[in-house]
Amino acid sequence: MRIDVVSIFPTIFDALEVSLLGKARQSGLLDVAVHDLRDYTHDRHRTVDDTPYGGGAGMVMKPEPWGEALDDIVGGAAERPVIVFPSPAGERFTQSIARELSAAPHLVFGCGRYEGIDERVFDYAAELGDVRLLSLGDYVLNGGEVAVMAMVEAIGRLVPGVVGNPESLVEESHEDGLLEYPSFTKPAVWREREVPPILLSGNHGAVASWRREQQIERTRLRRPDLLAD
Ligand code: ADE
Repeated sequence: MRIDVVSIFPTIFDALEVSLLGKARQSGLLDVAVHDLRDYTHDRHRTVDDTPYGGGAGMVMKPEPWGEALDDIVGGAAERPVIVFPSPAGERFTQSIARELSAAPHLVFGCGRYEGIDERVFDYAAELGDVRLLSLGDYVLNGGEVAVMAMVEAIGRLVPGVVGNPESLVEESHEDGLLEYPSFTKPAVWREREVPPILLSGNHGAVASWRREQQIERTRLRRPDLLAD
């Protein structure tokens, strides 16, 4: 999978060089390139923002550097990429969207800052690829970078081969619409707290149904909205 990220803070993405995703990059499973939006400006100050038409607080990202960056990254590509703009005004990013995007051969992420990006950029991007505006959750970050880090990790780990044991991807929160069951390891007693005896019973069927009950109970307590869905 090819992943391009456009940002005015490209060094934030240095963190993608470590851990599982770092390994996946080294092995060629993920081909990640990070681009500095300011490289597509032509003035002395490398300006990427300006005041909003109609007035109001804050600054808006100018369309020209975005247009040039998208032309450079997408131009000549064989297939239409999915172009993701993280935004608190977008559709909620979920595990099922992560799974869907993990099958795309080419993802482009555009990180907005300030009050957002000139709206015409989204229109233009839709000529080059399939545009998705995605929100991490109902809160506001200072920019799209942290959201893109989270999305790249959630998507990248679903690309076949990135996580060594694919079985570990199945029994996770959100994979079957429920939260994950609780996990325990040795010792069997720690600071007077015991591991639930059923997990030591060796009865696989009983363990499986206990875990299922735990999943449902936790989901009911912590995320009743998921059960309603
Ligand atoms: N940019 C700012 N806030 C965001 C959010 N909640 N999700 C995605 N991108 C964002």
